[in-house]
Order: sequence, then structure tokens, then C-alpha cells
Amino acid sequence: MEIARSKGPDELLNWEDIQKMRYSWMVACEVMRLSPPVPGAFRRVITDFSYSGFTIPKGWKTHWNVYSTHLDHRYFPDPEKFDPSRFQGRGPAPFTFVPFGGGPHMCPGKEYARFRWKKAIPDEKIIYKPLPVPASDLPIRIEPCI
Ligand code: HEM
Repeated sequence: MEIARSKGPDELLNWEDIQKMRYSWMVACEVMRLSPPVPGAFRRVITDFSYSGFTIPKGWKTHWNVYSTHLDHRYFPDPEKFDPSRFQGRGPAPFTFVPFGGGPHMCPGKEYARFRWKKAIPDEKIIYKPLPVPASDLPIRIEPCI
């Protein structure tokens, strides 16, 4: 409220304001923990390995799942409970809070939250192959929010 009150009638939040809104950020993280926007991703197995007594052969496709990590009581006690204070201080251990993945293929979109973007071809057609996709691969122009 303090930040909102310091703003003019049409003045938007900037990156600095958002950095100060620690509690709002903790709420956003807790929402993404309990309801991750992306449920996980696939990985092609490039070498045989064992996990939990199962042999996973090279060439298989595996799926890593965000929910199973976010609801693991070892990392998030009482995991079903909505509790933003989990993100206080140092927050969850590395690789336990993974709405954007982790490691080299972590979502690069995380950083784009700081940018506005516009379609470079406003009336770009949608083609079907067979899923609907933008005909020219959706070129965009981006500019920083601040
Ligand atoms: C709340 C919004 C978003 C969430 C929760 C999210 C989540 C994810 C997750 C879980 C992955 C998989 C990472 C992995 O395979 O280990 C991913 C990959 C990716 N995301 Fe996002 N994403 C979001 C927004 C965006 C946006 C806005 C963009 C682009 C503008 C984007 C671009 C990508 C790309 C290109 C990859 C593939 C990265 C790679 O394989 O190297 N994402 N995202």
C-alpha cells in the first residue's frame, strides 16, 4: 500500500518497486509452487541409468514433474497448505522450487517479465500443421518496462 500510495494516478509499478514488494513476491512464489503454470518437461535419455531400482534405457523419453517436487513434504512441510512464509529468508533449498525448471534448460522467459513486447507482424496469419502456429514464427519487438 505504501508503494501504491507513492504513485501518481496513472503511474505504473517499475522494476525497483517490484523488488521492494517482498511479501507479494512470496505470495506469487507460493501460488506457483501449488499451481505451477507448466507441469514439467521431457528429456531424452542419452545413456542407460538406474533410478529407484528401475533401469531407464538410453533412447527413452522421460518426463520431470514439477508437482511431485513441489508437494514433497521433505522440502515443503505440510505441502498442501498455502503458506507464503516458506519463501522467507533463504527460502527453499536449490532445485526444490522449480516452476521455471533448473539447470542449463531453465526457462529463459523468466527474464522477459521485465520487458514489454509487441507483435512485429500485427496481422500474422495462423496456419495449421496440424496444430495452430503463427505463419512467420511470431517475430516480436521487445522494450524494457522501465
Ligand atoms: C509463468 C510463465 C512461465 C513458466 C512457468 C515457464 C516454465 C518453463 C519450464 C518449466 C520450462 C522447461 C525447462 C526445462 O525443460 O527444464 C520452460 C522452458 C522454456 N521456456 Fe518458459 N515458462 C514461462 C514463460 C515463458 C516465456 C514468457 C517465454 C518466452 C518469451 C518462455 C520461453 C521458454 C523457452 C524458450 C524454453 C525452453 C528452454 C530450453 O529448453 O533451453 N517461457 N519454461
